[in-house]
Amino acid sequence: MATIGVIAGDGVGPEVVREALAVLEDASRREDFRHELVPFDLGGERYLKTGEVLPDAVLEELRRCDAILLGAVGHPGVPPGILEQGILLRLRFAFHQYINLRPIHLYPGVETPIKGKGPDDIDMVVVRENNEDLYVGAGGFTRKGTPEEVAIQTSINTRAGVERCLRFAFERARDRGRRRPFRGLSDDDRRRGLVGQVTMVAKTNVLTFAHDLWMRAFTEISRDYPEIKSDYQHVDACCMRMVVSPERFDVIATTNMFGDIITDLGAVLQGGMGLAASANLNPARTAPSMFEPVHGSAPDIAGKGIANPVAAILALALMLDHLGAPGPAERIRRAVARVLGAPAPKTPDLGGTAATADVGRAVREALE
Ligand code: NAD
Ligand code: IPM
Ligand code: MN
Repeated sequence: MATIGVIAGDGVGPEVVREALAVLEDASRREDFRHELVPFDLGGERYLKTGEVLPDAVLEELRRCDAILLGAVGHPGVPPGILEQGILLRLRFAFHQYINLRPIHLYPGVETPIKGKGPDDIDMVVVRENNEDLYVGAGGFTRKGTPEEVAIQTSINTRAGVERCLRFAFERARDRGRRRPFRGLSDDDRRRGLVGQVTMVAKTNVLTFAHDLWMRAFTEISRDYPEIKSDYQHVDACCMRMVVSPERFDVIATTNMFGDIITDLGAVLQGGMGLAASANLNPARTAPSMFEPVHGSAPDIAGKGIANPVAAILALALMLDHLGAPGPAERIRRAVARVLGAPAPKTPDLGGTAATADVGRAVREALE
């Protein structure tokens, strides 16, 4: 019996989580996946009512779950950072979710804005370091509010933190390559026995301390994976190449900050924010992992019932993989593929007129 904590959160969060949970119910019945849901009331409304962001006692209750499904946090009435740092980042750090896994996969039938590219060209996965870098909140102000004000925010990079992230990326590339060798390899690469590729994305030409550490770790760890090609790109060039030649990418390993930025770009390659899912993983399983869409609370469309629920539904599938339930996970992905391959229903982000609930229902109907 799996205990799943649910943080629906703010804005479109509850709208898309409702659909994901309905899909979970139907898929579980068919696959006999036994679970219980534990809802957690966290987000902007609670903060505005009570001043509470994430009380310690609630953190401990969440710790007892096997996994967490999160919609989104971020509220127009709350200053930026309070909920994002206080809920999302606190959970990622407190539960040692040091990997943020973000697949970028174009489903057949979904239009990519990249001219001439199709599903065979856009199939990569970003392994984003999730516990370090600029995100740790190391820094502060001096002389705040004066003309001489100084603000410092430091990027933290530990050898151990970087190594575990890079190892995870190489393991992923190996798994992917065993299932199907990376198509972007040359004939020569294949003759040499290569099956996959890890592209490390950083900025070694400017961040000559932090990313020197990354590069040395990358070079050393790559020796343990002779069947995986190691590739390096500066983050600016990576952005350009993700658009011009997405087929060059298999597994990308990158820092927390760059990973945040390039995965919104990746979401667009695969059809938009409404389709991109993400897993905050604690691979050692010493605390729950957390699964969420890449998108935020989307205040511009919240309350209209038109958010695309597919990102949340695919995040649910990632959660089922992690919980050792590949049956329901695959069934859900097949259903999503069927719905995305059909001309309708589509939410407005995909050019349609359907509601969130219509797409959710269509996925449930496509489950068998
Ligand atoms: P956003 O991802 O919420 O929205 C960006 C754009 O994508 C908007 O135009 C929105 O309408 C569209 N979009 C997002 N999700 C969609 C969906 N499911 N279907 C259709 N269209 C969708 O990013 P933002 O506007 O920069 O941030 C809004 C708030 O969310 C901020 O408070 C931010 O801090 C927060 N945020 C939270 C998370 C999270 O909880 N994981 C992630 C990103 C942003
Ligand atoms: C994401 C979001 C978060 C991040 C914010 C809301 C803290 O943008 O999950 O991509 O930067 O990681
Ligand atoms: Mn982001």
